[in-house]
Amino acid sequence: MKRMWYRNAVIYEIFTRSFYDSNGDGIGDVKGIIEKLDYLDNLGIDVIWLTPIYASPNEDAGYDVSDYYQINEEYGVISDVELLIREAHKRNIKIIMELVANHTSIEHMWFKSARKSKKSIYRDFYIWRDNSGDEYPNNWMSSRTGKPVWTYVEETDSYYFHLYTSHQPDLNWRNEELRKEIYKIIKFWLNKGVDGFRLDVINKISKKEGLPDLDDSVPYHYAEMYFENQPLVHEYIHNMRKEILNEYPDCIFMGQTSGIDLDQAYEYTLGEKEQLDLFLQFELTDMDKGPEGRLKQFDLEKFKDIIFKWQDAFDGKLWNTIFLGSHDLPRMVSHYGDDENYREKSAKMLATVQLFLRGTQIIYMGDEIGMTNVNYKSIDDYNDNRTKNFYYKRINERNENEEKVFMDIHDISRDNARYPIQWNDSIHGGFSSGKPWIKENDNYEYINVESQLNDENSIFEYYKKLIKIRKSERTLIEGKTTRLNYGEGIIAYRRIYNDISIDVIANFTNVSKRIDIVGNGERIIGNYDGENYQELKPYEVVVFKNYIC
Ligand code: GLC
Ligand code: CA
Repeated sequence: MKRMWYRNAVIYEIFTRSFYDSNGDGIGDVKGIIEKLDYLDNLGIDVIWLTPIYASPNEDAGYDVSDYYQINEEYGVISDVELLIREAHKRNIKIIMELVANHTSIEHMWFKSARKSKKSIYRDFYIWRDNSGDEYPNNWMSSRTGKPVWTYVEETDSYYFHLYTSHQPDLNWRNEELRKEIYKIIKFWLNKGVDGFRLDVINKISKKEGLPDLDDSVPYHYAEMYFENQPLVHEYIHNMRKEILNEYPDCIFMGQTSGIDLDQAYEYTLGEKEQLDLFLQFELTDMDKGPEGRLKQFDLEKFKDIIFKWQDAFDGKLWNTIFLGSHDLPRMVSHYGDDENYREKSAKMLATVQLFLRGTQIIYMGDEIGMTNVNYKSIDDYNDNRTKNFYYKRINERNENEEKVFMDIHDISRDNARYPIQWNDSIHGGFSSGKPWIKENDNYEYINVESQLNDENSIFEYYKKLIKIRKSERTLIEGKTTRLNYGEGIIAYRRIYNDISIDVIANFTNVSKRIDIVGNGERIIGNYDGENYQELKPYEVVVFKNYIC
């Protein structure tokens, strides 16, 4: 019997560093999560996904691991994680950890040894090319840095390969010993009781044999077609799965697989070889992103096309994850809604549209209270390496106008999602009694958890209701999704299962829309009071339930 628990699950993503600081050093920690478990239980979530908490120099927010068997001491010790797992399980909450296995940190013991000598037993855990006098071993460019994927080391007069920054050397999955080490890491954490893994950039772990140049007419390229979804990647994931299948049949793998299409998603999750349970694809959330941190015009029609394309693909067999926020994305209410004039209304509308779609739901921490983007004034206030890379490239190399660059940074910086959670209106938003590792957002004075708990009109209480409804209506889990057309600016769909249908109708704009809703049925939730459904107010959403005779 294949594990299916994830179908009903609402996952809550935690970026530990900014969740809650239990000891006043300004850094969120594992004990801080334990202290807030009742809060999460009250919200109604089923799974916590922790972004990496392993030992790491934090060049990329922990996505640069220096020791997979230790946690970052700023976050606590292993026994804290054990306690977190026990306490979460007591509340029926599962824990998913990250497996960051495309690359390590340069501080990892394997890499430190490998860079020193060609004779190191870890040398082949990474990807090397001898210095041949030509500039770089091939013409691939890192999409993270906009620079070559190679960095030179003097000790062995050679280059190592890195898809991300030079602090994140890629592992060589062709090496069997390396693969065995990865299995060991997985089992270590499974033995501690974790319930699954998010497999970071897992569709990139296999690179095309020989790392050939990509079309040499242009000097440097993003070479996705040579390192995404290569044939061997399926073997590698399948073999990881086989290693743990008997002993840990319930463990889920949620793969981060950017850029995959429907067929590839099918292969990863439903193909002959068992691989992933869930996948994260970014067609929706990346549709308006341009290169180097620029934003394109948001197009609602395209947004809808993408959502409905994935909903029931392959006749309902494909099972997607649904999310509008994450540690890599701007705040959803700022990005898709209106965080100035209609923050509460648009946050509720977006939550409804999201949570009633078909698929495993992921809520990013803080979205349940409508946290917004942050507008730091100086690049020094930012921490995110992607933001900094784009900033320096565009200002120093291209002489772009700083104001323009800052406008883009305000819209898309990953720090929008990485500043501290706002727990109350006291100093630092109640996140820490000390100075937070990253500047807080001043709006904690009016956007915070405490002010929303038990306020029946709050965004938090609304999320709670949505999650409750989702759990009590089989239709919202298993039902088919049909797109409904109510015209421009409106997103609407119907879920149908057995004799029940549920319609979600949402105004995605800040102006009222005249519409004609036929056969209303019972209104089960909405973000305005009122019974006039000839008109949808700004960002209004309304949901009707019908019995089909
Ligand atoms: C994924 C993570 C991102 C990280 C990258 C490199 O995209 O979500 O935060 O920077 O992988 O590990
Ligand atoms: Ca702390």
